[in-house]
Amino acid sequence: MSQQNRNESKHLVVGVAGGIAAYKACHLVRELKEAGADVRVVPTPDALRFVGAATFEALSGHAVSTTVFDAVDEVQHVRIGQEAQGIVIAPATADVIARLAAGRANDLLTATCLVATCPVLVVPAMHTEMWLNPATQDNVATLRRRGIVVMEPAHGRLTGKDTGPGRLPEPQQIAAVFKALLDGGDFERNLVGQRVLISAGGTRENLDPVRFIGNASSGRQGFALAEIAAHKGAQVTVVAAATDDLPTPCGAEMVRVRSAREMKDAIDERAGEADIIIMAAAVADYRPATVAESKMKKGRDDAGLDHLELVENPDILAGLVKRRADGELKDGVSIVGFAAETGDAQTSAVEHGRAKLRRKGCDLLMCNEVGEGKVFGQATNQGWLLGADGSERTIELGSKHYVAAQMLAAIAELRESGGGRT
Ligand code: CTP
Repeated sequence: MSQQNRNESKHLVVGVAGGIAAYKACHLVRELKEAGADVRVVPTPDALRFVGAATFEALSGHAVSTTVFDAVDEVQHVRIGQEAQGIVIAPATADVIARLAAGRANDLLTATCLVATCPVLVVPAMHTEMWLNPATQDNVATLRRRGIVVMEPAHGRLTGKDTGPGRLPEPQQIAAVFKALLDGGDFERNLVGQRVLISAGGTRENLDPVRFIGNASSGRQGFALAEIAAHKGAQVTVVAAATDDLPTPCGAEMVRVRSAREMKDAIDERAGEADIIIMAAAVADYRPATVAESKMKKGRDDAGLDHLELVENPDILAGLVKRRADGELKDGVSIVGFAAETGDAQTSAVEHGRAKLRRKGCDLLMCNEVGEGKVFGQATNQGWLLGADGSERTIELGSKHYVAAQMLAAIAELRESGGGRT
């Protein structure tokens, strides 16, 4: 069965705690159902003060209960907990997190969690002060130590006028992280204290005020890397050019740019601090030699629309490798590139990738085969992670979050083993 179909017919539990973001759980249930899973919603009694049981029952197709004293003959918490192949609690309030950390079993959700042995994803949502409170942070650390994955909350508008970390991530982000976890993605927190700089999206090179040269990169792979790196404990900055309309990766600082040169400036400014740099962006190799101040007119000889003159853009990745050689970057920084290749009669895509790895001089290169509807803008990816030390890891087909988890596990391993450079 292909990786992307693995969630089909899985028995999943969506736990919902009593926070204002409980309404977003409805969209999450839908996303998981649409991916083919059998979803059971287990709300806390307070969650039902925000969203009615009928809504969860209609969306999931299962009766909803909040207590172990309903359908006692079925011993619900034991049955649901044993059957569950994955549990996601969204939103998880400070109270539910505290009860999970304490091992309480005073409602159906916490009792079910005590029974379950499957992967558990906790998605906190609360006011910034409650999130940052040492009591909550200690409880989160306890859950993480026990192997429960706790998502970083999103940063943004909270209930009322406040903004800050504590928002529930968008249902599509939660579903993506949950699926990657269920697929066996590595969420080990082995990037704590590391600074990760990631470029994403496709650069745009202006011709005039309305036209540009661009590409089809969606930014999904770069954003997925940012999200997973944040969950692995890293301090993440994303420098993003044009992307599809995607939610900002949770737990990451976001810098928006447009052109290759803007991206180079933004990356160069931050590269000196980074422990890991991943160039996932599709950077335009060339840009128009001049940018017209007003819209170019078709058929006008001097407009130049029919004979564009192009000049080469800087190679950001190669520039980073050179700066490292010149001692301008942190000792031991890992530099990772991407290569979207097509094979031809003489050379396979992976051989092209290996040649590119040598040419660019980075430590790892994620090589994938493009063409025939593969990769760009698609929900899945696969390929080979090529190492400067001659290593070659197969990156299994899966969602871009799953690919990100595999890549970051390999990067962490490379760093733990002391480099990987020849
Ligand atoms: N890259 C970069 N700066 C550029 C072009 C590419 O940093 N001006 C980075 C990309 O982000 C990617 C890697 O280099 O990580 C390879 O990109 P690719 O476009 O495949 O490389 P090119 O050198 O342009 O090779 P090709 O001739 O195959 O397009």
